[in-house]
Amino acid sequence: MEAVGRNVTQFRPGEDVFGDISHSGGFPNAGSFAEYVCAGEEALASKPAGTTFEEAAAVPFAAVTALQGLRDKGRIQPGQKVLINGASGGVGTFAVQIAKSFGADVTAVCSTRNLDLARSIGADEVVDYTQEDFTQSGRRYDLILAVNGYYQISAYKRALSPRGVYVMVGGTNAQMLQAALLGPWISMTGSKKMGSMSNVPNQEDLVFVKELLEAGDVVPVIDRRYPLSEVPEALRYLEEGHARGKVVITVERSSET
Ligand SMILES: NC(=O)c1ccc[n+]([C@@H]2O[C@H](COP(=O)([O-])OP(=O)(O)OC[C@H]3O[C@@H](n4cnc5c(N)ncnc54)[C@H](OP(=O)(O)O)[C@@H]3O)[C@@H](O)[C@H]2O)c1
Repeated sequence: MEAVGRNVTQFRPGEDVFGDISHSGGFPNAGSFAEYVCAGEEALASKPAGTTFEEAAAVPFAAVTALQGLRDKGRIQPGQKVLINGASGGVGTFAVQIAKSFGADVTAVCSTRNLDLARSIGADEVVDYTQEDFTQSGRRYDLILAVNGYYQISAYKRALSPRGVYVMVGGTNAQMLQAALLGPWISMTGSKKMGSMSNVPNQEDLVFVKELLEAGDVVPVIDRRYPLSEVPEALRYLEEGHARGKVVITVERSSET
């Protein structure tokens, strides 16, 4: 942190911080790529001890999304069978680890090349979506977090246990539309709950994931690093939709830990 305004009470110049600045600067600013940025103190928290700036930068948006999807929308409980569809991307790699930290039995759905990655971050079971359709397997899950890919909402419903919960985080437009339009109706007319979630950045959740990192329960998975001058290449790579974990923009700094 370079400087603080006179009403800032939580931080001092020189402190290492991380945060989600997508709500700083007002709509339609959804974050930025820059060496310096001005943000409200509520968007920030102290950088997790023992992490580099690059690791810390990978965390806020994706990890808080996974946390809010699993805990707030999904009401995750220890011992539950939880399935993460799209487990190998930015949100998914955090979702697998956070679900494990809540004591769940986690099934990760990803492609062949990412099966070992999913196991290495704690998945109890892995399903290769290029070989198997988990919605046809007969197995039932207490909580399904749909982060990527596409299945019809009726297929997700079939894969839920009788009082199971489905939370749509992302994926195809059809997946998002079905969750938004049909989810509330399915939830009202039966015992299964189906719907979508939207990340709401807040300091409390940022501190929650910081503590998970410090406890070693969550480790950021970083696929590629691009210097600031190569942001367009980084975005192009991300848009291909096959990143393994997070893509990070690096800034030349002498104070890197
Ligand atoms: N609701 C919210 O508030 C919120 C917040 C953040 C993000 N999102 C949304 O969540 C989605 C995921 O974000 P992200 O940052 O995690 O994306 P990402 O990092 O770009 O996801 C890439 C990953 O998705 C996997 N994938 C691609 N097709 C798949 C399929 N058919 N089945 C399973 N996995 C598949 C890829 O694995 P392979 O290479 O093996 O295919 C890759 O590892 C996006 O739609 C994003 O817009 C929503």
